Amino acid sequence: MTFSETLRAATWSDHESAEGESYLTELMAGRLSAEEYGEMVAQHYFAYLALDGAAERLAEHPVAGRFVFPSLYRQRALERDLTTIYGPTWESRIAPSKATRTLVARIEQVSDWPGGYIAHHYTRYMGDLSGGQFIRMELQKIYGYGKGGGVDFYVFDEIGSLPRFKNEYRARLDALALDEAEGQRIIREVRLAYQLNTEVLAELLHTVRSAA
Ligand code: HEM
Repeated sequence: MTFSETLRAATWSDHESAEGESYLTELMAGRLSAEEYGEMVAQHYFAYLALDGAAERLAEHPVAGRFVFPSLYRQRALERDLTTIYGPTWESRIAPSKATRTLVARIEQVSDWPGGYIAHHYTRYMGDLSGGQFIRMELQKIYGYGKGGGVDFYVFDEIGSLPRFKNEYRARLDALALDEAEGQRIIREVRLAYQLNTEVLAELLHTVRSAA
């Protein structure tokens, strides 16, 4: 098995937990208001400021730099989405949740280790390019968003064919010079990344429910 296959197999049960998180179930069933959907967009905003900030710092790194893609950066797209959902004063309305602060702290803590940065980058971006595309189609149906704001976070026009990009990404994972221990360490960090991202979703549902 290649490393990308091992990684996927070793973390797929964590993926199932993330995918099955009630906030996403509620969202996909059309049971959340646009403002409640915006709560997730807001949390993404803080997480991607951290992730893409780490990427910018690592652009010249010989190993981690292979996983730096400015065409994926999400800040501008998320700003358009937040403007569409909450209006021009969105910035005063949003704050990172406890779970997001934990995720951000972990991204920052591990991003001087190439494997740590790659683990968090993989967990987010490979998801956005995969299940995220399904989520985008559902959200467009539910809320009627078009291009230009609302679901731009899930739109990756600059990278061309998504399957081709994902194959290239997996090839880069497979080209990492990893011994067994380092491979396992990355897998552990991906599992943690899934857990921290899932906790963000769990906390969101709690916030949405207690506001209702
Ligand atoms: C409604 C929610 C979700 C659905 C329906 C979904 C669905 C999928 C599907 C079908 C794939 C496989 C695509 C392919 O092989 O090309 C995939 C891959 C992936 N998803 Fe999700 N997903 C969801 C949520 C999430 C979340 C919340 C995360 C992370 C926090 C995530 C992270 C990933 C990753 C990292 C992969 C790539 C696995 C690999 O091929 O190595 N997904 N998702």
